[in-house]
Amino acid sequence: MKKILILNGPNLNLLGTREPTTYGSTTLADVEAQCKVEGERLGYAVECFQSNWEGALIDKIHDYGRLYKAGEALGCVFNPGAFTHTSIALHDAIKGVDGLPVIECHISNVHAREAFRHHSWVSPVAAGIVIGLGTDGYLIALGALVRKFGVTR
Ligand code: DQA
Repeated sequence: MKKILILNGPNLNLLGTREPTTYGSTTLADVEAQCKVEGERLGYAVECFQSNWEGALIDKIHDYGRLYKAGEALGCVFNPGAFTHTSIALHDAIKGVDGLPVIECHISNVHAREAFRHHSWVSPVAAGIVIGLGTDGYLIALGALVRKFGVTR
C-alpha cells in the first residue's frame, strides 16, 4: 500500500484550543484520525507528522522524496503554519526532492487575514492549494491528491 504524508508545521499541535474562532475546535488528533480513515478507504496508508521545528519538517520531506522515487509514496498534504510565509528552506526542500506532489493546505483563508499571511513560499512549488475550508481542507486535499496522482477506485 502506498503512503501519503499528512504534514503539519508549527503550532498546529494546538489545534482545538488555539484561536478557535479562526481554526475551529477540531483537534489535530481528530484531523489525523479522519485522514487515516479516508486514506485507507481510498487505498493508501496515511502517516501523520507534526513538528514545531523547520528542520524536522525538511527531513520528513526528504524522507518522502526518497519514498516517492522508490514508488512507495503518493504525495503529501502540508500545512506549514507560519513557516508558509517565511521559509525559503521549505520551498527549497520541496523543489529539491523533485517530483513529490505536495498539496499545500491552510485551515483559515489566509488572504482574508493580515497582509503578512498573503505570501507563501510553498505555493510556487505546490501541486495544488486548499485554503480556508477549515479542517475539512485536509480531507479535501487528500482526496485531490489521490484523484490527481493516484489510482481511484
Ligand atoms: C495556517 C495559516 C498561517 O498563516 C498560520 O501561521 C498558521 C495556520 C492555517 O492553517 O490557516 O499557523 O497555516
